[in-house]
Amino acid sequence: MPQRVAVVGGTGELGFPLACRWAQAGIEVVIGSREQAKAEKAAADLAELTGKTAEPLANPEAAASADVVIVTVPFSGFVPIYKSIADSLRPGAVVIDATVPVEASVGGKATHVFGIWEGSAAQLGKAFLPKNTKMCAGFHTVSASAARDFDVPLEGDVMVCGHKDGKPAVRELVDALPDLRFVDAGPLENARIIEPITALLIGINHRYGTDRSGIHVTGLPEEGS
Ligand SMILES: NC(=O)c1ccc[n+]([C@@H]2O[C@H](COP(=O)([O-])OP(=O)(O)OC[C@H]3O[C@@H](n4cnc5c(N)ncnc54)[C@H](OP(=O)(O)O)[C@@H]3O)[C@@H](O)[C@H]2O)c1
Repeated sequence: MPQRVAVVGGTGELGFPLACRWAQAGIEVVIGSREQAKAEKAAADLAELTGKTAEPLANPEAAASADVVIVTVPFSGFVPIYKSIADSLRPGAVVIDATVPVEASVGGKATHVFGIWEGSAAQLGKAFLPKNTKMCAGFHTVSASAARDFDVPLEGDVMVCGHKDGKPAVRELVDALPDLRFVDAGPLENARIIEPITALLIGINHRYGTDRSGIHVTGLPEEGS
Protein backbone atom coordinates (compact mmCIF):
# COMPACT_ATOMS: atom_id res chain seq x y z
CA MET A 1 0.00 0.00 0.00
CA PRO A 2 1.38 3.50 -0.70
CA GLN A 3 2.10 5.19 2.61
CA ARG A 4 0.80 8.54 1.55
CA VAL A 5 -1.33 10.05 -1.19
CA ALA A 6 -2.08 13.69 -1.93
CA VAL A 7 -5.50 14.42 -3.41
CA VAL A 8 -5.43 17.65 -5.43
CA GLY A 9 -9.06 18.74 -5.47
CA GLY A 10 -9.62 16.60 -2.38
CA THR A 11 -12.52 18.81 -1.30
CA GLY A 12 -14.61 17.73 -4.29
CA GLU A 13 -17.30 15.23 -5.20
CA LEU A 14 -14.85 12.52 -6.23
CA GLY A 15 -11.66 13.47 -4.36
CA PHE A 16 -13.21 13.78 -0.91
CA PRO A 17 -14.85 10.34 -0.67
CA LEU A 18 -11.76 8.71 -2.17
CA ALA A 19 -9.65 10.53 0.45
CA CYS A 20 -11.97 9.23 3.17
CA ARG A 21 -11.79 5.68 1.90
CA TRP A 22 -8.00 5.74 1.62
CA ALA A 23 -7.74 7.18 5.12
CA GLN A 24 -10.04 4.40 6.36
CA ALA A 25 -7.73 1.89 4.66
CA GLY A 26 -4.78 3.19 6.67
CA ILE A 27 -3.14 5.36 4.02
CA GLU A 28 -1.84 8.79 5.05
CA VAL A 29 -3.96 11.27 3.14
CA VAL A 30 -3.27 14.88 2.21
CA ILE A 31 -6.26 16.95 1.13
CA GLY A 32 -5.33 19.62 -1.40
CA SER A 33 -7.41 22.66 -2.28
CA ARG A 34 -6.92 26.05 -3.89
CA GLU A 35 -7.82 27.45 -0.46
CA GLN A 36 -6.15 26.34 2.74
CA ALA A 37 -9.33 27.00 4.74
CA LYS A 38 -11.35 24.77 2.43
CA ALA A 39 -8.79 21.98 2.81
CA GLU A 40 -9.01 22.35 6.58
CA LYS A 41 -12.79 22.10 6.51
CA ALA A 42 -12.60 18.94 4.37
CA ALA A 43 -10.00 17.40 6.69
CA ALA A 44 -12.29 18.12 9.66
CA ASP A 45 -15.19 16.49 7.81
CA LEU A 46 -13.00 13.48 7.00
CA ALA A 47 -12.07 13.14 10.67
CA GLU A 48 -15.71 13.28 11.69
CA LEU A 49 -16.75 10.70 9.11
CA THR A 50 -13.88 8.25 9.46
CA GLY A 51 -12.22 8.88 12.80
CA LYS A 52 -8.95 9.25 10.84
CA THR A 53 -6.84 12.32 10.20
CA ALA A 54 -5.82 13.95 6.94
CA GLU A 55 -3.36 16.77 6.38
CA PRO A 56 -4.96 19.84 4.79
CA LEU A 57 -2.72 21.81 2.43
CA ALA A 58 -2.95 24.18 -0.52
CA ASN A 59 -2.60 22.24 -3.79
CA PRO A 60 1.09 23.04 -4.50
CA GLU A 61 2.14 22.10 -0.96
CA ALA A 62 -0.04 18.99 -1.11
CA ALA A 63 1.65 17.95 -4.36
CA ALA A 64 5.06 18.49 -2.73
CA SER A 65 4.15 16.33 0.24
CA ALA A 66 3.73 12.91 -1.32
CA ASP A 67 5.26 10.59 -3.93
CA VAL A 68 1.79 9.77 -5.22
CA VAL A 69 -0.60 12.56 -6.24
CA ILE A 70 -4.08 12.20 -7.68
CA VAL A 71 -5.71 15.13 -9.48
CA THR A 72 -9.52 15.27 -9.22
CA VAL A 73 -10.59 18.66 -10.59
CA PRO A 74 -13.00 19.75 -13.33
CA PHE A 75 -11.55 20.04 -16.82
CA SER A 76 -12.60 23.70 -16.88
CA GLY A 77 -10.04 24.47 -14.17
CA PHE A 78 -7.52 21.84 -15.10
CA VAL A 79 -4.75 23.85 -16.80
CA PRO A 80 -4.20 26.35 -13.94
CA ILE A 81 -4.21 23.46 -11.46
CA TYR A 82 -1.51 21.57 -13.39
CA LYS A 83 0.54 24.75 -13.72
CA SER A 84 0.17 25.36 -9.98
CA ILE A 85 1.58 21.96 -8.96
CA ALA A 86 4.21 21.46 -11.67
CA ASP A 87 7.10 23.08 -9.80
CA SER A 88 6.25 21.44 -6.48
CA LEU A 89 6.16 17.79 -7.48
CA ARG A 90 8.79 15.50 -6.04
CA PRO A 91 11.26 14.14 -8.63
CA GLY A 92 9.78 10.99 -10.16
CA ALA A 93 6.38 11.49 -8.50
CA VAL A 94 3.46 9.38 -9.67
CA VAL A 95 0.61 11.66 -10.83
CA ILE A 96 -2.78 10.08 -11.48
CA ASP A 97 -5.24 12.11 -13.49
CA ALA A 98 -8.96 11.37 -13.07
CA THR A 99 -10.21 14.20 -15.25
CA VAL A 100 -13.08 13.65 -17.62
CA PRO A 101 -13.17 16.41 -20.21
CA VAL A 102 -16.95 16.13 -20.52
CA GLU A 103 -17.08 19.22 -22.71
CA ALA A 104 -14.71 17.56 -25.18
CA SER A 105 -16.49 14.21 -24.99
CA VAL A 106 -19.71 15.77 -26.18
CA GLY A 107 -18.03 18.02 -28.74
CA GLY A 108 -17.93 21.29 -26.82
CA LYS A 109 -15.75 24.32 -27.40
CA ALA A 110 -12.89 22.89 -25.36
CA THR A 111 -12.35 20.35 -28.14
CA HIS A 112 -11.11 23.07 -30.42
CA VAL A 113 -9.23 25.02 -27.79
CA PHE A 114 -7.20 22.08 -26.52
CA GLY A 115 -7.28 19.64 -29.43
CA ILE A 116 -8.68 16.94 -27.13
CA TRP A 117 -9.94 14.71 -29.92
CA GLU A 118 -6.32 14.03 -30.82
CA GLY A 119 -5.39 13.36 -27.24
CA SER A 120 -6.76 13.40 -23.71
CA ALA A 121 -6.86 15.48 -20.58
CA ALA A 122 -4.19 13.22 -19.06
CA GLN A 123 -1.81 13.79 -21.95
CA LEU A 124 -2.48 17.52 -21.81
CA GLY A 125 -1.76 17.52 -18.05
CA LYS A 126 1.48 15.59 -18.55
CA ALA A 127 2.73 18.32 -20.87
CA PHE A 128 2.81 20.77 -17.94
CA LEU A 129 4.74 18.47 -15.60
CA PRO A 130 8.45 17.70 -15.24
CA LYS A 131 9.74 15.04 -17.64
CA ASN A 132 10.52 12.63 -14.80
CA THR A 133 6.87 12.53 -13.61
CA LYS A 134 5.32 9.08 -13.86
CA MET A 135 2.02 10.12 -15.37
CA CYS A 136 -0.96 7.78 -15.14
CA ALA A 137 -4.72 8.14 -15.55
CA GLY A 138 -7.47 6.27 -13.74
CA PHE A 139 -10.58 6.34 -11.53
CA HIS A 140 -12.67 7.90 -14.35
CA THR A 141 -15.37 5.24 -14.06
CA VAL A 142 -15.66 5.38 -10.27
CA SER A 143 -18.94 7.08 -9.38
CA ALA A 144 -18.60 9.86 -6.80
CA SER A 145 -22.09 9.03 -5.52
CA ALA A 146 -21.12 5.41 -4.95
CA ALA A 147 -17.84 6.53 -3.35
CA ARG A 148 -19.80 8.69 -0.88
CA ASP A 149 -21.90 5.73 0.20
CA PHE A 150 -19.36 4.79 2.84
CA ASP A 151 -21.19 1.72 4.14
CA VAL A 152 -21.03 0.00 0.75
CA PRO A 153 -17.76 -1.22 -0.86
CA LEU A 154 -16.99 0.39 -4.22
CA GLU A 155 -17.28 -2.16 -7.00
CA GLY A 156 -16.10 -2.35 -10.58
CA ASP A 157 -12.92 -2.00 -12.57
CA VAL A 158 -10.51 0.90 -12.55
CA MET A 159 -8.87 1.06 -15.93
CA VAL A 160 -5.44 2.54 -15.47
CA CYS A 161 -3.18 3.69 -18.25
CA GLY A 162 0.14 5.46 -18.22
CA HIS A 163 3.76 5.12 -17.12
CA LYS A 164 4.59 1.49 -16.39
CA ASP A 165 6.62 2.42 -13.31
CA GLY A 166 3.72 4.48 -11.96
CA LYS A 167 1.12 1.73 -12.26
CA PRO A 168 2.20 -0.30 -9.18
CA ALA A 169 1.37 2.69 -6.94
CA VAL A 170 -1.99 3.15 -8.66
CA ARG A 171 -2.71 -0.56 -8.28
CA GLU A 172 -2.00 -0.27 -4.55
CA LEU A 173 -4.48 2.59 -4.23
CA VAL A 174 -7.10 0.54 -6.08
CA ASP A 175 -6.39 -2.58 -4.05
CA ALA A 176 -6.79 -0.58 -0.83
CA LEU A 177 -10.49 -0.20 -1.71
CA PRO A 178 -12.24 -3.58 -1.42
CA ASP A 179 -14.18 -4.81 -4.49
CA LEU A 180 -12.49 -2.42 -6.91
CA ARG A 181 -10.21 -4.15 -9.40
CA PHE A 182 -7.16 -2.69 -11.13
CA VAL A 183 -7.09 -3.27 -14.88
CA ASP A 184 -3.94 -2.39 -16.79
CA ALA A 185 -5.24 -0.38 -19.75
CA GLY A 186 -1.90 0.25 -21.43
CA PRO A 187 -0.07 3.47 -22.28
CA LEU A 188 -1.22 7.00 -21.42
CA GLU A 189 -2.41 7.48 -25.02
CA ASN A 190 -5.34 5.18 -24.14
CA ALA A 191 -6.71 7.88 -21.83
CA ARG A 192 -8.38 9.35 -24.92
CA ILE A 193 -10.48 6.16 -25.04
CA ILE A 194 -11.06 5.79 -21.29
CA GLU A 195 -11.99 9.41 -20.45
CA PRO A 196 -15.11 9.53 -22.67
CA ILE A 197 -16.45 6.30 -21.12
CA THR A 198 -17.63 8.44 -18.21
CA ALA A 199 -19.81 10.49 -20.59
CA LEU A 200 -21.28 7.17 -21.73
CA LEU A 201 -21.90 6.14 -18.11
CA ILE A 202 -23.59 9.47 -17.35
CA GLY A 203 -26.07 8.75 -20.17
CA ILE A 204 -26.59 5.20 -18.90
CA ASN A 205 -27.22 6.61 -15.40
CA HIS A 206 -29.93 8.87 -16.82
CA ARG A 207 -31.63 6.05 -18.70
CA TYR A 208 -31.57 3.62 -15.79
CA GLY A 209 -32.36 6.13 -13.04
CA THR A 210 -29.13 5.56 -11.12
CA ASP A 211 -26.01 7.56 -10.30
CA ARG A 212 -23.47 4.76 -10.05
CA SER A 213 -23.03 2.71 -13.19
CA GLY A 214 -19.49 1.46 -13.72
CA ILE A 215 -17.39 -0.84 -15.84
CA HIS A 216 -16.41 -4.48 -15.51
CA VAL A 217 -14.04 -6.11 -18.00
CA THR A 218 -14.80 -9.80 -18.44
CA GLY A 219 -12.55 -12.68 -19.43
CA LEU A 220 -9.48 -11.64 -17.47
CA PRO A 221 -7.53 -14.31 -15.56
CA GLU A 222 -7.94 -14.33 -11.80
CA GLU A 223 -5.24 -12.30 -10.07
CA GLY A 224 -2.36 -14.56 -9.07
CA SER A 225 -3.39 -17.44 -11.36
N1 LIG B 1 -18.09 13.16 -9.93
C1 LIG B 1 -17.88 11.96 -10.44
O1 LIG B 1 -18.68 10.99 -10.27
C2 LIG B 1 -16.62 11.70 -11.23
C3 LIG B 1 -16.29 10.37 -11.56
C4 LIG B 1 -15.13 10.15 -12.27
C5 LIG B 1 -14.34 11.21 -12.69
N2 LIG B 1 -14.71 12.49 -12.38
C6 LIG B 1 -13.85 13.57 -12.83
O2 LIG B 1 -13.07 13.93 -11.70
C7 LIG B 1 -12.86 15.34 -11.71
C8 LIG B 1 -13.42 15.93 -10.43
O3 LIG B 1 -14.81 15.72 -10.39
P1 LIG B 1 -15.68 16.23 -9.18
O4 LIG B 1 -17.07 15.83 -9.46
O5 LIG B 1 -15.01 15.81 -7.92
O6 LIG B 1 -15.52 17.80 -9.37
P2 LIG B 1 -15.90 19.00 -8.37
O7 LIG B 1 -16.43 18.47 -7.10
O8 LIG B 1 -16.72 19.96 -9.13
O9 LIG B 1 -14.49 19.70 -8.15
C9 LIG B 1 -13.44 19.08 -7.44
C10 LIG B 1 -12.62 20.14 -6.77
O10 LIG B 1 -11.89 20.85 -7.78
C11 LIG B 1 -11.78 22.21 -7.38
N3 LIG B 1 -12.35 23.06 -8.42
C12 LIG B 1 -13.64 23.28 -8.71
N4 LIG B 1 -13.77 24.12 -9.76
C13 LIG B 1 -12.51 24.42 -10.14
C14 LIG B 1 -11.98 25.25 -11.14
N5 LIG B 1 -12.74 25.92 -12.00
N6 LIG B 1 -10.64 25.36 -11.23
C15 LIG B 1 -9.85 24.68 -10.40
N7 LIG B 1 -10.29 23.87 -9.40
C16 LIG B 1 -11.62 23.76 -9.28
C17 LIG B 1 -12.56 22.40 -6.09
O11 LIG B 1 -11.62 22.34 -5.04
P3 LIG B 1 -11.11 23.66 -4.26
O12 LIG B 1 -12.15 24.73 -4.42
O13 LIG B 1 -11.03 23.14 -2.86
O14 LIG B 1 -9.82 23.98 -4.88
C18 LIG B 1 -13.45 21.20 -6.05
O15 LIG B 1 -13.77 20.78 -4.75
C19 LIG B 1 -13.57 15.90 -12.95
O16 LIG B 1 -12.66 16.03 -14.00
C20 LIG B 1 -14.60 14.83 -13.25
O17 LIG B 1 -14.96 14.81 -14.59
C21 LIG B 1 -15.83 12.75 -11.64
